[in-house]
Amino acid sequence: MIIDISPIGVAVREGGDLTRLHVESTNPHAAADSEQLRIAGLGYLTDDGAVMLEVGALYRMVSTVADPDILPRWDAMLNDAQHKGWTDAERRFVRTRLQRVGTDSGNTSPSDAQAVRFRRVLGHFASGVTVVTGSDSDGPAGFSCQSFSSLSLNPPMVLILPGRSSTSWPRIQATGRFCVNILSADQEALARQFALSGVDKFAGVQWSRGVLGAPCLTGACAWIECEINSVRTGGDHLIVLGDVRALEAAHDVEPLLFHRGQFGRLAAVS
Ligand SMILES: Cc1cc2nc3c(=O)[nH]c(=O)nc-3n(C[C@H](O)[C@H](O)[C@H](O)COP(=O)(O)O)c2cc1C
Repeated sequence: MIIDISPIGVAVREGGDLTRLHVESTNPHAAADSEQLRIAGLGYLTDDGAVMLEVGALYRMVSTVADPDILPRWDAMLNDAQHKGWTDAERRFVRTRLQRVGTDSGNTSPSDAQAVRFRRVLGHFASGVTVVTGSDSDGPAGFSCQSFSSLSLNPPMVLILPGRSSTSWPRIQATGRFCVNILSADQEALARQFALSGVDKFAGVQWSRGVLGAPCLTGACAWIECEINSVRTGGDHLIVLGDVRALEAAHDVEPLLFHRGQFGRLAAVS
């Protein structure tokens, strides 16, 4: 099993085999790996460059994509890992190696440093968190999306910015419509789950179809259903304008917030 970390997030590959468990990163720098692991709730980097993966989070990720026979063998595989000294005493974490791929020896070049600085500085802008969803003949699709904004009142329009390497957005775009689910403060786990790539993100998620057919996640603060007006390129992202066709809000539900790589919730200013 290989955990892939890249600038767009975390994904799992070859989920049927725990013996070859390791992490591959295309990030240029360890700081980005640390941030991605933390946001996905998957674990942390050690000082000697290994990765401690949180066993519960790993299981949740693997259980959505693994061959069915891996799950009954999970405890045996963990016992084996513990025997080999790869787990901590409580078996909360399993230690794996980190392989950096597609970068030269992991050194930070000036442009890598610029990328780290860009993310760090831009991360000071606090926002809510949404999950953008759609549904095609293969089923529901969705991804966590911070880049969302109200755009126009007359006519009612919104804006979202999907990354060009998102695998979920092309499926959603092909349907011509999407739903922006504004997450509530209790939905941090959903924000992490929908930020993973290559897993069944809707496993265990409650949702219903909106007026346009896109998934509306149960427990969200608000739902904005749109038809796609236009899509144009903006660097490594897409600028998607949506014509709002239906919208609804829950009453008295606090929003989930995101700031400097951390999830949070509102606090009263005294
Ligand atoms: C808090 C948070 C905000 C994010 N905001 C965006 C965003 O605005 N645009 C985007 O493309 N990806 C964003 N992501 C990353 C995507 O969720 C992630 O790359 C995507 O789920 C990858 O899966 P996919 O291949 O199924 O699209 C964000 C992730 C998190 C955790």
